[in-house]
Amino acid sequence: MDILLALKTNALPAVMTLLVMILLWKIRGKQSSFGRLPPGPPPNPLLGNLFQFNLKEAYKYYLELSEKYGSVVTIWLANTPVVIISGYEALKDTMIGLGEEFSGRDNYPLNMKATLGYGVLSSGHRWKEMRRFSLMTLKNFGMGRRSIEERVMEEAEYLVERIKKFEGSAISPADMLSNAVTNVIWSIVFGHRFELDDPQFMFLLQTIDSYFSILSSPLGQLYNIFPKLVSLFPGKHHQLFKYLKDARDYFRREAQARMNNVDPSCPQDFTDAFVLKIKEEKDKPDTEYNIENFVSLAWNLFTAGTETTSSTLRQSLLLMMKHPDVQERVQREIDEIVGQDRWPSIEDRQRLPYTDAVIHEVQRSMDITPIAIPHKTMCDTEYNGYVIPKGTKVFPLLSSVLIDPKLWKNPNCFDPKNFLDGDGRFKKSDGFVVFGMGKRACLGEALARTELFLFFTSLLQHFTFKAMVPPEELDTTPTNCSFGRIPRTYECYAIPRI
Ligand code: HEM
Repeated sequence: MDILLALKTNALPAVMTLLVMILLWKIRGKQSSFGRLPPGPPPNPLLGNLFQFNLKEAYKYYLELSEKYGSVVTIWLANTPVVIISGYEALKDTMIGLGEEFSGRDNYPLNMKATLGYGVLSSGHRWKEMRRFSLMTLKNFGMGRRSIEERVMEEAEYLVERIKKFEGSAISPADMLSNAVTNVIWSIVFGHRFELDDPQFMFLLQTIDSYFSILSSPLGQLYNIFPKLVSLFPGKHHQLFKYLKDARDYFRREAQARMNNVDPSCPQDFTDAFVLKIKEEKDKPDTEYNIENFVSLAWNLFTAGTETTSSTLRQSLLLMMKHPDVQERVQREIDEIVGQDRWPSIEDRQRLPYTDAVIHEVQRSMDITPIAIPHKTMCDTEYNGYVIPKGTKVFPLLSSVLIDPKLWKNPNCFDPKNFLDGDGRFKKSDGFVVFGMGKRACLGEALARTELFLFFTSLLQHFTFKAMVPPEELDTTPTNCSFGRIPRTYECYAIPRI
């Protein structure tokens, strides 16, 4: 017995050391087996570069790396390589020039949990079908159905009425903006708007909120790196998984109810259009038109299209309070061109160059998604003498373009002149890449731009926004979270003008 015990006590540390050495050797092997990956900081054999930077401010570290190593850099998140691409030229070469090769979507575990791999955040044939269908359906709104503009204006009018009720006393705009923007997508997908206290609507808002709050928390980041391990521990993520399942069940029921109830000659909304496509392709063996793809696509539209747009609107009001002179000039332009007797329309955009420039500059300076949504390579891909293996994660570092001093006069300040020519006309810029570039660029760009313009102009037509502290004390720098940069929450006064 004693001999056995002694053997155990002495052998255990030796066995453990041996196991760790084998593990390190395997990981090292993996790190060096990737051939000609672009250069980058030396990884730790076990953790890669994982704890060499603050995950919340990862994009700042990536910017530093691009200065040190060039426009393509490799970092290791544990034992997974990630290629970071920065600068306008390199992004154009890869996202547009090698668009097909870089068109894969890296499906991080939390997204997999929400979509089960279906929907538009997928890759290959499925992604192409879902993307083509979504773009076409969004574009065709208005042909027999209520146009996107009508739906946005309906929400803008509700929003203005809601704020008017406060009669100039303090408001907290975050929830109001988020509800308005979510209702636009709801109306496009399901055909009607919701009252804000509707339990179904509140449930969806709560699910989206919980998804983003976990995604941006250390727990979510750990889950995305070690999903199996983190699943074993208790925590808020289990509540989120329950919400996600309930949300899928709800979307599924909505689509199933339409299957027997859709008028082929007059589809009213996104769900009708999808259900008709399911029926049309029911005998095609490789069809992607099925209920599970619908459920995930609806979820993709809600998540990709709500937080981004409402955060941008929230930041735009904050910047107007910080720069009252800019707010005044926007209001003067709106008063001159639109007046106060009618609502703004999308046709007014061309006649409101200053306002248009301000909205663009809000987006540029905010830099809402510094690394877009992660891509992956669809095949072994050669670029700049490096070989990036099939399936490698790729981060397009949009920030590197949005704050490039070669493209913008004062990249770190808010300056609408970045989008105006010498005669005060709106000036387009190739460096405006907030919606991404190439085949994977935002599919809701047209909708987002319509929403930003109509909500912003309707709000400034009706109210002057004033901070509760002097403008110089306002901090307009967005806070960083793992998936992007979100504006600070604030209260303010909305003083009626009409
Ligand atoms: C200010 C508002 C918005 C911004 C800044 C924004 C930005 C982006 C960015 C940077 C990407 C990733 C591009 C890439 O991976 O290279 C993206 C993708 C996407 N966006 Fe938006 N977006 C906005 C609004 C919307 C809206 C309103 C919708 C809803 C229709 C939407 C739907 C999507 C979808 C579905 C994708 C994934 C496309 C794909 O994988 O093919 N976005 N967006």
